[in-house]
Amino acid sequence: MTNDTTAAREHPLAHALHAADEIRQMTGVTTIDASVTLGSGWKSADQHLGELVSEIDAATVTGFRRAAVLGHSGALRIYRTPHGTHVLVIGARTHLYEGHGIDAVVHGVRTAAQLGAKTMFLTNGAGAVTTRLSPGQPLLIADHLNLTARSPLVGADFVDLTDLYTSRLRDIARSVAPDLQEGVYAQLPGPHYETPAEVRMLASLGADVVGMSTTLEAIAARHSGMDVCALSLVTNLGAGLQGTILNHEEVLEAGRAAEATLGPLLARVVAAATNPTEGTD
Ligand code: HPA
Repeated sequence: MTNDTTAAREHPLAHALHAADEIRQMTGVTTIDASVTLGSGWKSADQHLGELVSEIDAATVTGFRRAAVLGHSGALRIYRTPHGTHVLVIGARTHLYEGHGIDAVVHGVRTAAQLGAKTMFLTNGAGAVTTRLSPGQPLLIADHLNLTARSPLVGADFVDLTDLYTSRLRDIARSVAPDLQEGVYAQLPGPHYETPAEVRMLASLGADVVGMSTTLEAIAARHSGMDVCALSLVTNLGAGLQGTILNHEEVLEAGRAAEATLGPLLARVVAAATNPTEGTD
């Protein structure tokens, strides 16, 4: 016996199940341990994760689409880390502002869960709403403000988000990168950048950075039973905090400038967080 809520939920999950089976067939990898989504500025940050086992065009897999944003790669890659774990890298996310619906936004996360991922690493480029942060700086996301007024969950599905960006993983990340600062990420729908008044509002609400992704994916990941770890690259100061206007080229340039540090940082965090012997030695 199904009801409307069940029917609405079955479709996206079936999509993810289908996509996971296609990835298994195309790559020969049956199970993964973790997944990484590469956001703006993080395009080549996967290169240090380990040995590249397989690379496929995301657009050939059910529910994935070609990157709509310049500077994002449309590839799905599987790496074997030095600990022998398998990590699926999603080279381009679907953003809410693309208008494909919220299920499309979280499809990558749900597919990773269907492939067996226990940990979801989400990366993004973000604007700082405080001058305590500087462009080029990576930031560990400690919590979020989901200001999209949307949820990827439908129905009476009351998921606890108290420790969404798992403190266990944040401790691990800080242990391998002691300089990493933590902050609160606010997601707005975009695609327009904020006004200076909105940037001031976000700071007064408790945000440290603002972007157009991540929170909905984090909620879907937790709902799928995964632990979540998220990293921002501060690509610019928010509107009104810097002397210039904002543009996407600046976001990409900050990523290029930080390329040498982001890849090794991501690799250290992923390796430590997915180390099967972590906590036992
Ligand atoms: N605002 C929103 N999203 C962003 C920004 C910003 O300043 N920088 C990078 N992504």
